Formats: sequence, C-alpha cells, structure tokens
Amino acid sequence: MPDTPLIDIADLGYRIDGRAILDGVSLTASERRIGIVGRNGSGKSTLGRAICGLIPVTGRVRIAGIDVARDRRGALGAVGLLFQNPEHQIIFPTVAEELDFGLGQMGWPKPDRARAVADMLARFGRDDWADRATQDLSHGQKQLVCLMAILLMAPRLIVLDEPFAGLDIPTAMQLSRVLDRLDCALVQISHAPADLRGYDRVVWLERGRVAEDGAPDRVLAAYETRMRALGAGDAA
Ligand SMILES: Nc1ncnc2c1ncn2[C@@H]1O[C@H](COP(=O)(O)OP(=O)(O)OP(=O)(O)O)[C@@H](O)[C@H]1O
Ligand SMILES: [Mg+2]
Repeated sequence: MPDTPLIDIADLGYRIDGRAILDGVSLTASERRIGIVGRNGSGKSTLGRAICGLIPVTGRVRIAGIDVARDRRGALGAVGLLFQNPEHQIIFPTVAEELDFGLGQMGWPKPDRARAVADMLARFGRDDWADRATQDLSHGQKQLVCLMAILLMAPRLIVLDEPFAGLDIPTAMQLSRVLDRLDCALVQISHAPADLRGYDRVVWLERGRVAEDGAPDRVLAAYETRMRALGAGDAA
C-alpha cells in the first residue's frame, strides 16, 4: 500500500474528567523525522501515547495502516514508544528479561529471542549487560535498555518522548548518533528546538491542539518567539 501514510491521525480527542487534553488533532505524515514541540502540559506525552494506541481516544489513529488502539499485536510491529520516564517502562528485574518481553509478545520462539537479545546487546557494545539488574542502572542506561527493547521489535515508527531530558553531554551525543543511524521513522517529542535540528517537519501543540505544523525553521522560530514572550512575563 504505497499510498498509505505512515501517520494518519484525524480529529483525535482525549478527555480526562471532562477536560479536553487533546482536541481535534489531525496529522497526515510520512516524513522520517517529525518533531512535536509544546510547553509543559500542552499534551505532547498524551499525543505520543495516542500515536502508540495506549489510551482510549476518539477519532482516528492509524500507523502504517494499522488501527493501533484496536489491533494491539499489529501495533507492536508498527510503532514503539520510548517513555519520558524509563521507570514507567521497565518491568523486569534483569536487562535480558526486559529485552525478551516484547519479542515474546510478538510470538517469537524462545531460542530466536535469546539470539536476537544477545545480538542487540552486542550492537550497542553492552554484551555484559544481560544479567544486570535493571533497577541498578542509571537513568541514561535505563533509557538505552528501553530503546534496545523497542528496536528489537523493529517497528516502522518510534515515538521518543523527551529522550534527551536528564542525559549528560556524552550520553546525549551517543544517543543522538544512535538515533541518526536508525532506518525507521522517528517522532521526537521535545520542548527544546535544538533537539529537532535537521528534522523534516515539526508540529507545535498548544493546549491539546495543533498550533502550527510545517517546516522546522518556520515552526520552531515561531514557537521560540512565543515561548520567550511568555517567559518574559510572570503569567502562566
Ligand atoms: N492521568 C492524568 N490525570 C489527570 N490529568 C492528566 C493526566 N495525564 C495528563 N494529564 C493532563 O494532561 C495535560 C497534558 O499532559 P501531558 O503529559 O501530555 O503534557 P506534556 O506536553 O507532555 O507536558 P511535559 O512537557 O511537562 O512533559 C496536562 O494538563 C496534564 O495535567
Ligand atoms: Mg510530557
């Protein structure tokens, strides 16, 4: 289906206790590198979860033609989410178990899973991590484990929710190189325009709605001007 857009979102809505968190969000996109910006509380993480089919929304969310909220197994091969906080993602005591889980969900036989996990650890030069306790890893190390777990499932699209927040400079540079080399499409959520340099398209969310959508230079310049104006005053 060459004409199927990678991301097909139409009139997306999500409410909590009657309050609209996402409201009328529409986005049709097939670019390889898409950024989502917006200030704190604008709905970026919620949109990220919606793109991955993890919350009950109204409207349409299709990724690579898959209705991600309804077809959960199909969704696993279509899109993966790197959570803003890796603590919310990691559930298993060891790195190998954590990496194995998604492949099990996808129905892979155990020997194939073990080989794939070992290969992934080797790809990142972390062969000795298999038996490490996940709870003893640093924030950046946990995040790398989460990214490896997603890469194992080889989704068409990965949504990265503030992947650079909390990383030191070398770890951020390493992550940046890893992301640059990925063949799959990326949606990176960030409130920092510099993280999205070189991206193909940027969507600016404001109070759960799309404020701007288009070329990064234009959208990020408008976003930054607006954020600086807000920051110059004391009103929220
Ligand atoms: N479980 C929840 N219960 C109540 N309100 C929620 C819940 N999750 C999110 N919200 C609200 O939804 C809005 C959007 O939150 P979201 O986490 O998507 O924002 P964000 O743009 O990712 O913010 P940040 O930049 O701080 O990560 C916020 O006003 C938040 O308070
Ligand atoms: Mg967020």
